[in-house]
Amino acid sequence: MESKRIATLTMDDGRSIELPILSGTLGPDVLDLRNLAKLGLFTYDPAFFSTASCSSKITFIDGDAGLLYYRGYPIEQLAEKSDFLEVCYLLLNGELPTPTQQAEFRELITHHTMVHDQLARFFNGFRRDAHPMAVMVGVVGALSAFYHDSLDINNPEHREISAHRLLAKVPTIAAMTHKYNIGEPFVYPKNKFNYVENFMYMMFATPAEEYVPNPVLVRALERIFILHADHEQNASTSTVRLAGSSGANPFACVASGIAALWGPAHGGANEAALKMLEEIGDVSHVKEYVQGVKDKKYKLMGFGHRVYKNMDPRASVMRQTCYEVLKELKLENNKLFELAMELEKTALSDPYFIERKLYPNVDFYSGIVLRAIGIPTNMFTVIFALARTIGWVSQWNEMIADADHKIGRPRQLYLGEKKRDYVPIKKR
Ligand code: SDX
Repeated sequence: MESKRIATLTMDDGRSIELPILSGTLGPDVLDLRNLAKLGLFTYDPAFFSTASCSSKITFIDGDAGLLYYRGYPIEQLAEKSDFLEVCYLLLNGELPTPTQQAEFRELITHHTMVHDQLARFFNGFRRDAHPMAVMVGVVGALSAFYHDSLDINNPEHREISAHRLLAKVPTIAAMTHKYNIGEPFVYPKNKFNYVENFMYMMFATPAEEYVPNPVLVRALERIFILHADHEQNASTSTVRLAGSSGANPFACVASGIAALWGPAHGGANEAALKMLEEIGDVSHVKEYVQGVKDKKYKLMGFGHRVYKNMDPRASVMRQTCYEVLKELKLENNKLFELAMELEKTALSDPYFIERKLYPNVDFYSGIVLRAIGIPTNMFTVIFALARTIGWVSQWNEMIADADHKIGRPRQLYLGEKKRDYVPIKKR
């Protein structure tokens, strides 16, 4: 990172300090504040509205222009022309695979999809009606108990095998979570299927009959996985990076990312958005519901974004996918889709949303597509976690591979009590 320009901070007491301004390949310049401690000052930026926590080469977002690139490739092109495992290879390794690399990667991941049979016993500790995300946090975290052969995170080979194991096994665990929730037997992966087909097979097959994945639904889910694969330094990825900075193993770090993703302000929004559409129920209720949003009674789930102050490019692709899937399934007059489009039209023409630059995000339409594919609502965020695992692992790997990385340790603005002496209980 070159430093072409300098900013000078001059304090009211006359002290000043020079702060380098760093430029990246794309996006805004950053003010390098690492010298600020010399003045005995911290920056103060709760929720990190203006903070670049790291440098990265993986994903670029331009929130004003509504751009999203994975390793420089626009998300629209990848969603249309690539497949999820190829995107995984790209995010992890930085380049699109050659035909040989692609075949080897597919073969490798396919042969890691089974989980240790002991892992199945973890599920029995959960109630059947436990939220699948609660189960995912626990079972994915438990993976670290099974791989003592590859926990040296400073060994690139250990990092690579852990990345492959997570990419291959999270879908299996996700499908097991669903099967446990509905009381059906676990379905083992089948190597004849590709990554997405295999996941659908493990989710929907039963021992009682043959299951053939519907190619239209497979393609739709593949596109959903691609759209959710990575997204720069969002809350869950930042959680994974912070956990990883302490040297924690990748399985525990991904479990922390799953926990952070669960919140309705983040990955839990797809489940919340679909519930919102069901609560509204009919297009005739849209105006009243939107008024409730403007009265700040609740948020419009699937709308708004910390970075995108324009249409989330993923939402546009998701809307198109929604339309294609519903058409293919002859569900064109799907009430939820009509409701979502009416809600979008109403919100995007209302000054309240326009002034606040609130647009549909990736979660606004994804729930409708997932529902049409047959994924139950309580599994929507699990689908997000499955897809985002490659992003978390790629960002974790990039951080650990940087020999200069250090443990993340933010400071604070202390507003508590000054020093005071202990008061015995008799005097309180
Ligand atoms: C994801 O970071 C990522 O990249 C995340 C993600 C990824 O791929 O990793 O893109 C995935 O998490 C997408 C976002 C999913 N969340 C939702 O759809 C939940 C609903 N959205 C909001 O909770 C909100 O928009 C956030 C959390 C997404 C962003 O909130 P910010 O950046 O903290 O903005 P804010 O809350 O300060 O809002 C600014 C204003 C406020 O109004 P005023 O106080 O100025 O009057 O906009 C309002 C907010 O009340 N506002 C909304 C709103 N989102 C913001 N009002 C109604 N409905 C909304 N959805």
